[in-house]
Amino acid sequence: MSKRILIFLVVIVLVFGAIQFIRPERNVAPIGGRNELFFQVKEAPVVVKSNLINACYNCHSNRTNYPWYASVAPVSWLISNHINEAKHKLNFSEWHTFDAAKQLKLIQEVAEVIEEDEMPPAGYRFMHAESNINDVEKKILLEWIQQYAETLGEN
Ligand code: HEC
Repeated sequence: MSKRILIFLVVIVLVFGAIQFIRPERNVAPIGGRNELFFQVKEAPVVVKSNLINACYNCHSNRTNYPWYASVAPVSWLISNHINEAKHKLNFSEWHTFDAAKQLKLIQEVAEVIEEDEMPPAGYRFMHAESNINDVEKKILLEWIQQYAETLGEN
């Protein structure tokens, strides 16, 4: 191995080691706070709860279940950005801080992305089998969302 390549590899390893010290804040509040969607909306079927929690909460709530590789920079930085962006649009942990109009708009968007298979993002689905929503579950989810949206529309 030439000396140049060796120096190059040493630099890479040192840089990789150094960036590990830059750790983004972790998204790990306890689940089930009083503003969480299902805290007040208790009548949702178990399938609905488990599907939304398994498929969406890692990015759209204050509680992420991190896989091991999420601790490794620069993956940790990308994941952290992604979560912040997702929570900014929709945060199920803050659900009951939104007024009915905002909840209605958001739940309709949720139905739309589920219907069109736009969420979770494809790359995420590939890494997380548990986030898969099958056709039967999808139907139950969409029916429940419609019912829930009707209760919001009445307010
Ligand atoms: C891996 C992270 C991740 C997961 C898991 C995930 N999302 Fe998202 N979601 C994002 C990001 C990032 C955005 C903002 C960027 C965008 O709109 O693509 C977003 C945006 C959205 C939006 C707003 C779309 C818009 O047009 O502005 C909705 C609604 C949404 N997600 C619903 C869901 C639902 C429902 C699930 C579960 C079935 C889910 N997401 C799972 C990352 C995720």
